[in-house]
This record gives sequence, structure tokens and C-alpha cells, in this order.
Amino acid sequence: MAKLSIKDLDLQGKVVFIRVDFNVPLAAGGKEISSDKRIRASLPTIEYALAQGAGVILASHLGRPKGKPNAEMSLAPVAARLSELLGKPVTFAPDCVGPEVAVLKPKPGEVLLLENLRFHKQEEDNDAEFSKQLASLADLYVNDAFGSAHRAHASTVGMIAYVPTAAAGLLMDKELEWLTKATKSPDRPCVALLGGAKVSDKIEVIQNLSKVVDKLLIGGAMAYTFLRAKNEPTGRSLVEEDKIDLARHLLAETGGKLVLPVDHVVVQEVKPGADNKVVTTIGPTDIAVDIGPKTIENFEVIIRSSKTIIWNGPMGIFEMPPFDKGTVALAKAVAESGAVSVVGGGDSEKAIKSAGVSNKITHVSTGGGASLEFLAGIELPGVTALTGR
Ligand code: 3PG
Repeated sequence: MAKLSIKDLDLQGKVVFIRVDFNVPLAAGGKEISSDKRIRASLPTIEYALAQGAGVILASHLGRPKGKPNAEMSLAPVAARLSELLGKPVTFAPDCVGPEVAVLKPKPGEVLLLENLRFHKQEEDNDAEFSKQLASLADLYVNDAFGSAHRAHASTVGMIAYVPTAAAGLLMDKELEWLTKATKSPDRPCVALLGGAKVSDKIEVIQNLSKVVDKLLIGGAMAYTFLRAKNEPTGRSLVEEDKIDLARHLLAETGGKLVLPVDHVVVQEVKPGADNKVVTTIGPTDIAVDIGPKTIENFEVIIRSSKTIIWNGPMGIFEMPPFDKGTVALAKAVAESGAVSVVGGGDSEKAIKSAGVSNKITHVSTGGGASLEFLAGIELPGVTALTGR
């Protein structure tokens, strides 16, 4: 069902509570932000609300502090970075609920960032009283935190019971638009490129996407579990022994849509710069670490003739060059295909960055777990809870 958008709200003179996902990677004991991508991704929503004359309250979790304050997971560095990006002051609240927060109510054009929601256990417990306290801070509620939409927490679900309406922010709108388009009404041919280490992480994604896509290209270590299911030798490559039957079942169930690697880059020891060679049959002591050139070519041909590409997960141990070759080659092929391309998951995003093609991808999702659950066809509670149109 289509959801109410921030664009449908009358924001003038109101205080709007925007749930953002500022769960950014931190370095230097929590003092430095290693990537501000998630902060930048919500700027359009924040700037829109300010331009419409609202006072803005921003709330997020950061890390997993287990319900207790933890200085290394404070959102204070995020407030500083956000202020630089917005070019205006951002008031930082010492907590997310309580009297000292209530008095900081932002006036039109002002921004208040609350301290980490997860410093209170009640956030993850989806506690009703805590939800009520959060809701009491503002007049309107907007959820822009797509990356947290798979969590049924107080700030993503619970507090919606205590606000008049719950609208999607511009980032949430964009994420849902592209992920829905790619999985529900894709331009055809439509192909999914799935990688990563484990079949077990991607079972539901494979099952769900195989109903939608025309082809499913499998790379990464999970390909070796599938090869074993076809009784092909895999040497010492990573294989989930207890998932071989399942892989056999998926191969049968998806009716020939799964395309597996036909050659492999193998090593005897997984370490940077290890001696490697390309083989079509994996030897008894070989460990496969990337897809080979013939597989790259096969996958490129399919990618080039596709109109929609959904990508999640790397094709090999891409963080250890030169075993990033397959992943980087396919990132380039996806970018040059001219197809609608939707990419999810941190590793595929890194590959796109290192291939220098980020600006040629239609949509790179800000959600890791959330985008994977979306691709698996699982309902996201943070989306379901929003007001319908
Ligand atoms: C993420 O980084 O995937 C989201 O911010 C959710 O974080 P979580 O897995 O700690 O709930």
C-alpha cells in the first residue's frame, strides 16, 4: 500500500520528529565518523522540513549499546558533522526523553538531535510508555530510517500509536520506490546478482527473487555449496555442508534460473597476494576465492542484455585484492548496462565505490539488513506501521 509522504504534511510552524538512521561507522573510540553517507542520505528530508517552516527533532540509534549509555556510541560527533553539512547549528540533546529534552523544543528552522535512542532498553523493547514520551516531543512524525525499517522498536513502530499520522521521509520514499519497482514490476529481462559467503543468509532472497527475475547469477563462496549440490568438486573451498540438500532443492525449485560459475580463481592459502590460478575444475587442495574470467564473461553477457539488475553481495574475497577482480568487473558491467540497477548490502556498495561507478547506479540502498529482508519479500514493520494514502 502507498504510504503518506512528508510532502503530504503541512509542516509550517510545527515540530516534526524525524526518525533517521544515523547508525554510522565510528573510529577513534567513537570520536570520528568513518563514513557520513547515512547522514547525507537524510539531508533532503531535513532540508525540506526546515524549508517548509518546521522545527526538526532528529532521533536515531547508533551501534548496539544494550540499553545503557555508552560514550563510544554517542551521537555527539554526528551532531557536529550534521551541523557542517547543513551549514547551521544543530543542538544536541543529552538524552532522548525526559524534562531536559522537552525544554529544547526547536523553533521553526531549528534542528535538535537527540542522544542515542538505544541508551534506553525500552527502545528495542518497543515499550509503550517510552513510545508515548517520544511522541509527546513533537506534533508530527516522519520515518526516514529505511535502514532500521526491519526493526519493530519504539521509534520505528511503537510511537506511531501516539501520533496523528506517520509519514515516510524522502529517503524512505526513494528506497521503497526503487526496491518496489525492481522486485514488483521490473523492466525485463530482469536479473539478480547474488554473492556472499553463505547460502543460509540468502535462502529467502533466492526463493523470493526467483519468482520475479528471469535469471539469478550466483557468485561468492555460496556458489560452492551449490556446486557441491551438483556433485562438482569444490576442494577446500568454503561449503556449508548442512545446506547442500537445501541448495539441491533450490536448484530444482528455481527451474533453471540459477546460473553458477564455470571457472574459478583458486589458491592454496587465503592471504593477500597468494599465488593463484584459474581452473575450470577445482582440485582437491584448491580454495576458490573469486569467479574466473569465463564466468565474468558469461555474467557480463546476461547483465548487458538486462533492463533491471538487482545486486547483493560480492563475487569473491573482494576485500583482498587481486581477488576483487570478479566483483569489480561486474560492478563496471552493471554500471555500463544502462539498466535500472538497485544495489543493497555494504559489500556490494564498497565494490561499486572501488570500481569508481557509484554515480552510474540507479539506487544504492542505505539499508543492509532492511534491504535484504525487503528482497526476501519480508514485510518491514517500520514501513507497515506508516499511514496509508
Ligand atoms: C543497520 O546498520 O543495518 C541498521 O542501522 C540497523 O542496525 P541494527 O542491526 O543494529 O538494528
